[in-house]
Amino acid sequence: MTNGQSDRWYRAAATSDIEDDDVLGVIVGDYGQHEIAVYKIGGAYFATGDRCTHQRARLSDGLVIDDCIECPLHQGRFHIATGRAKSRPVSIPLQTYPTRIEEDAVFVLIAEPDAA
Ligand code: FES
Repeated sequence: MTNGQSDRWYRAAATSDIEDDDVLGVIVGDYGQHEIAVYKIGGAYFATGDRCTHQRARLSDGLVIDDCIECPLHQGRFHIATGRAKSRPVSIPLQTYPTRIEEDAVFVLIAEPDAA
């Protein structure tokens, strides 16, 4: 029995594509269906959805401030590691994704719906 989803690792970027304390927006998935923001914070890699939960601005156009991403549109902030909404006007958390490094690339784990 399954929950109708399968986890799948996608290559998101080369590790060298992301500066320390910065973010890179990528699109992954066989049909380009996942907009992901990949971060490098203190040497560790994190991933969240790339669209703000307030009005869908692209977070990878925002600023990394300490351990948060600040949305470029209304300056709401999310905690990068947990996706938690930290300041108004955002209140809905971001989806976060596990990451792993393999052969100088960052991979993100995404749950895909099973084919019918
Ligand atoms: Fe991100 Fe409004 S769209 S805070």
